[in-house]
Amino acid sequence: MTQRIENLAAWQQAPGQKLHIGPADLRQPAANEILIRNAAIAINPIDWLLQDNALLPWLDYPTILGSDVAGEVAAVGADVERFKVGDRVIGQAVSTTVNDPAQGALQQHTIVLEHMAAPIPDRMAFTEAAVLPLGLGTAAVGLYGKTNLALPGPSLSRVARDEVVLVWGGASSVGCNAIQLAVASGYRCITVASARQGEMLKKLGASEVFDYSSPSLVDDVLAALRCRRLAGTLHATGSIVDCFAVVGASEGVRTVAATLTPPEERPEGVDAAHIIGPSLKDDEVGPMIYRDFLPRALAEGTYVAAPPARIAGHGLEALQQALEMQKAGVSGEKVVVALA
Ligand SMILES: NC(=O)c1ccc[n+]([C@@H]2O[C@H](COP(=O)([O-])OP(=O)(O)OC[C@H]3O[C@@H](n4cnc5c(N)ncnc54)[C@H](OP(=O)(O)O)[C@@H]3O)[C@@H](O)[C@H]2O)c1
Repeated sequence: MTQRIENLAAWQQAPGQKLHIGPADLRQPAANEILIRNAAIAINPIDWLLQDNALLPWLDYPTILGSDVAGEVAAVGADVERFKVGDRVIGQAVSTTVNDPAQGALQQHTIVLEHMAAPIPDRMAFTEAAVLPLGLGTAAVGLYGKTNLALPGPSLSRVARDEVVLVWGGASSVGCNAIQLAVASGYRCITVASARQGEMLKKLGASEVFDYSSPSLVDDVLAALRCRRLAGTLHATGSIVDCFAVVGASEGVRTVAATLTPPEERPEGVDAAHIIGPSLKDDEVGPMIYRDFLPRALAEGTYVAAPPARIAGHGLEALQQALEMQKAGVSGEKVVVALA
């Protein structure tokens, strides 16, 4: 009976205020939802952006922010067949998209849509797994969404393709997932990141990593693309002007899927699309990732949780500090709070 479960949340009472810990009602999961008892919560840039600013006109305050949870299933909706109480899972929470605090991550229990959750292997710690959801979901929308790059989906068999996916900002949370997904879709992936992250990104599957601080960056990436065709480009972070310069001078698909609103000014022939991270809850991309691909890929170890977690602290009280840590900037890491 979910009504009897006690639940505390880190409330965002209004933009510009710090988190406030207090009780939050729990409701039964609807037919297509699960309730997760959170053991770990990861922080994304949008969390502190929404703490500081009223960016979403539809969002009522007080609200509960946050997208990334890992924990155990505490209750399931009537139509849910894939999960049972006690299963270890991750979930991508969508409170700020649907204006429902019960679906926010920054609390002890979170309601998540069934097709936005995936089981995790026993060997994977909750703090490790919590880094995945929004970074993974956003990369998937950019690569597979019909209004973005619309590439063929990831598979365990990795049918090899001749074309290249360029990931700009590979060491970011979105970038680490974009590299792994592009490779799982069979593409060769080249990426732009700092030199110190090169080894990590090659382990994730990038075939070449170009240092964003190099004065010859655009020429270096273009040289790597010579005699190759782009299947598409995902801009996670970094200079979009340099990214457009590369794409504009390359062969193949000159479309850039960008995490931030792309500027109108771009070289002739370059197309750009803005990634709406949570949109996969409403189309085929959500089930493609969370039902069909991720559970087996995690179980087989062909997909890993990256970037690695940096534990900001324990308990809901650590969440404010975690937001400030992510705002101050991370390097090849994801800020995580452990609850259990
Ligand atoms: N549209 C959406 O729905 C959506 C969803 C999620 C995120 N986002 C946005 O996507 C962006 C990425 O988010 P995130 O959570 O993935 O970021 P993040 O993990 O916080 O990004 C940090 C990483 O960016 C790298 N970086 C910094 N400057 C760079 C540069 N000039 N070139 C290449 N890499 C650079 C850093 O690497 P080094 O430390 O090695 O320099 C660091 O590892 C943010 O702007 C976020 O707001 C949008």
